Parts: sequence; C-alpha cells; structure tokens
Amino acid sequence: MRVIAIDGPAGSGKSTVARALAQKLGLDYLDTGAMYRAVTFAALRRGIDPDDGERVARVAEDCELEMDDDGTVRVDGADATIEIRGPEVTRAVSIVAANPGVREQMRRRQRAWAERRGGGVIEGRDIGTVVFPDAELKVYLDARPEVRASRRSKEVSDLSYETVAADLARRDALDQGRAHDPLREAPNAFVVDTSELGVDEIVERVMERLA
Ligand code: DC
Repeated sequence: MRVIAIDGPAGSGKSTVARALAQKLGLDYLDTGAMYRAVTFAALRRGIDPDDGERVARVAEDCELEMDDDGTVRVDGADATIEIRGPEVTRAVSIVAANPGVREQMRRRQRAWAERRGGGVIEGRDIGTVVFPDAELKVYLDARPEVRASRRSKEVSDLSYETVAADLARRDALDQGRAHDPLREAPNAFVVDTSELGVDEIVERVMERLA
C-alpha cells in the first residue's frame, strides 16, 4: 500500500498540493477534513448538538459518507459539497473533530478507504502522526498566519479578511491544543514553509523527496 500523508493547518496549501501529487503519481486523493465536516453536517441536520459527544460519535459511526474523486461529498445519499464549507459547519467542526469517538470512526474509515485503493494521497491533521504512521512519505505544510488567512479569504468571497483570519486563529488553537490527535509535525516529516512558494515548486520539492 502506497500512502503519502499531507498534514498542516488550514490555508497551508494541503488540498492543492495533495491533488496535484495524486495526479502525478496516479493515486487517489482523500480530503479527511471534508470527512470531519461531513459528520458535522450530518449531526446538525439531525438536530444534534455538536457538544453532545456520544450522539455525535454515533453519527460518525452510522452515517453514510461518500467522497468522490471530483470533490463531491455525499452524506446519507444527499450532496453536501457546498454546505460542508459553509459558516455553520465551519463554526462547529473543531468541536466535532476534538471528539475521540468521532476520531476513532474517521480513522477506521480512512484506513479502509486506503486499503480498498492500495493507498492514496491523504491530507489532514493527523495522517502522518496517527492514521498512517508508516506512510511512505509524510509531508507537513505550513505558512505564516497572514498568508494562510489571505488564501482562505480569497476562497470564501462573502466573508471579510478579518473574519476569516479570526476564525483561522481560533481553529488553529483548537486543532493544536486538543487532547486527542492534535495537529503537530510527525517526527520524520518533510516540512515545507509554503508562504513564498507556488504550487509547482512545492510539488517539485515533494516529488524530489519521493525519488
Ligand atoms: O482541512 P479542513 O479545514 O477542512 O478541516 C476541518 C476541520 O477538521 C479542522 O478544524 C480540523 C479537523 N481535522 C482533523 O481534526 N483531522 C483531520 N485529519 C482533518 C481535519
């Protein structure tokens, strides 16, 4: 099984780089952040309070998640691609991602996904540290907070830079400070600061590492 793990905070360039790498290597691509978002969406839609750990963990276990290669995300058969990026889900997702019962279910699903495909390029926060500690290559992407906030605010055109920057700082603190599988560099990760780099350059550096 060939797994390339890409971890890092929001706006570090993970998705763009992971997609490009998957294409170059002929591997499938998995966005695990979208899975945490999908569970959050499923819980909210069922009227479950994101703080109700037990009920949310049950949703993570029994909801039907489909992650298509083109980025379409289906939750219980319904297309939720747009909604999982909306403000309601974005506000609640860090609470859901801090839930150990949810993390256990996501880990199980992510490993099954990779086994079915013989590997893949998988991006998230704990892929190299927890989900696939034996990955062929672990990449940790980072960038200065203002660079990450500016990238994100270009993606969500209806929110101001200040709102996006504040939300990013809040999520960074939650993702790095949580008790279970916090965001951190794997001990042997290839660390790249992407603040001043274009996508092609980052992909090239990672490809060199694989050679
Ligand atoms: O990458 P993203 O912003 O779409 O991720 C959404 C949330 O999910 C983010 O707050 C961190 C969490 N997450 C996680 O805890 N573990 C992962 N492997 C991926 C995402």
